[in-house]
Order: sequence, then C-alpha cells, then structure tokens
Amino acid sequence: MRNIVTGNWKSNKLWNDAEKLMDDVATGILESQHTDVFVAPPTPYLAALQAQSTDLIGLAGQQCSAHLEGAFTGEHTASMLKSVGVKAVLIGHSERRGGFGENDSVVEVKIHHALDAGLLAIVCCGENLEERDAGQHFEKVLTQLSHAFQNVDTSKMIHVVVAYEPIWAIGTGRTASAARAQEMHAAIRKHLVELFDAPTAESTRILYGGSCKPSNALEIFMQPDVNGGLIGGASLNALDFLAIVAASNEAASKEQQGG
Ligand code: 13P
Repeated sequence: MRNIVTGNWKSNKLWNDAEKLMDDVATGILESQHTDVFVAPPTPYLAALQAQSTDLIGLAGQQCSAHLEGAFTGEHTASMLKSVGVKAVLIGHSERRGGFGENDSVVEVKIHHALDAGLLAIVCCGENLEERDAGQHFEKVLTQLSHAFQNVDTSKMIHVVVAYEPIWAIGTGRTASAARAQEMHAAIRKHLVELFDAPTAESTRILYGGSCKPSNALEIFMQPDVNGGLIGGASLNALDFLAIVAASNEAASKEQQGG
C-alpha cells in the first residue's frame, strides 16, 4: 500500500514564506513512487497555493466546520475546501480537541462532512502524558476511534486515514520510540478489524505524528503498522520535509520487496 506523509504547518508562516515553502517542497518532489504527499498550510493560503500543487503534492485543510453552509461566522466547510481543490482534511487534531472544543461527537460529525464533500479524512487520535503514565493510552485511543467511526460505513473507509499522535510527543522533541509507535499502531489496526473487517483494517493507512524528523523517520516508517507520518515542526523546512518523504518512500519500497 502507498504511504502518506502530510505536513501540518499549523499557524506558522506569513504568505511570502508560505508561498516559498510550497514552491521549495513542490519542486523538490521529483517523484514519489510509494508515498502520497500532502501539505496543510493555514486556511487563508489554500486557494492561492493550489496553483503550486501538483499530482505529487496535494493540499490538505487543517480542519473543517462541524456545520454545513450558513450563518456560522468564521467557519469554513469541507465542501468549501473541496471547491478550491483541497484533497484532504485533518480532523480531531489534539490542538483542536484541546483548545477549540473538538470533542468526540464534533469529530464524528466532521468526519461525515469531510467524506460527504469527497475529501480524504485524516482522523487524529492520541493520549496525553497523564494517560500514558497511568497506562490508559490504549483505552483512550481506541475509545476515540470507536466514537469517530461508529457510523462510518465500511465502504467509506478507503477515504479515511488514521493519524496516531501522542500528545506528549507533539512539538516536544520527545518522539515515541519506534517500538512504542508500532505497539499502538498494531492495537489500532486490530481495533479496526473489530470495528469493520480484516481487509479494511489491512488497507487503512495509519500515520505516526509527534516530533518526527529526518533522523528518526525511517526507523518509525519501517515499523510494519506505520504507513507514513503527520509532520509538524519538520514540515516547516523544505529539506527536512523532503527527507522525511524520501524516508517514507524507502520504507514503503522495502516493505513491497518483502523487507
Ligand atoms: P511535531 O512534528 O511538531 O511534533 O507536530 C506533530 C503534529 O502535531 C502534526 O500534526
């Protein structure tokens, strides 16, 4: 299966720098045989950056509204993203869950809006440090996913990607070890078998996010249940991001060759 690497720029970069970063990334990706690449710039830049997106690099939204079109000042809908050429959207990022009231029910609604709009839904999950230290990390993540997917039809799962982002590893420089990432990814895949079926679980891409950088990307991506990454800080530097994409291509290519 093809990996996915998505750069989440969060609330970083003014327009000139954003345009240059997109240009540097787009021109740096000459081929990406085993990885679908997306970048998620700040929302105001999406329509303009469409001109620089190519078959090899698509745009993603960092979030979408839980509402449909109407009197919701400041919101943007999944369909609006789609209408400016966006291909994917992050849903339930921990920074949205923690800071903007995006609870499991809101996440669930947004997934349906994204799918109805024809976007790839990149659904984020992850535990905080307290939950990890208390040994509640599996329960936390699997419960988030049970809620998120409770009304998603199996046939739609081809348009869904899971991103595991342990909150304690986001922006902290503290990466989950490859073994820890693999352990959670395997638990997520097993849970998808229970929620859907084995073929669906097998074909769902599960990305790792949390201080992923060129120096650790290959080891993490080589884990059998890791199918790419959701990259924050390192996606703000074109060379770092391109190196992570290259690591993903290498890992996926080795996997296809059977090791
Ligand atoms: P960092 O790569 O900066 O830890 O951020 C991860 C993340 O939140 C991506 O969505």
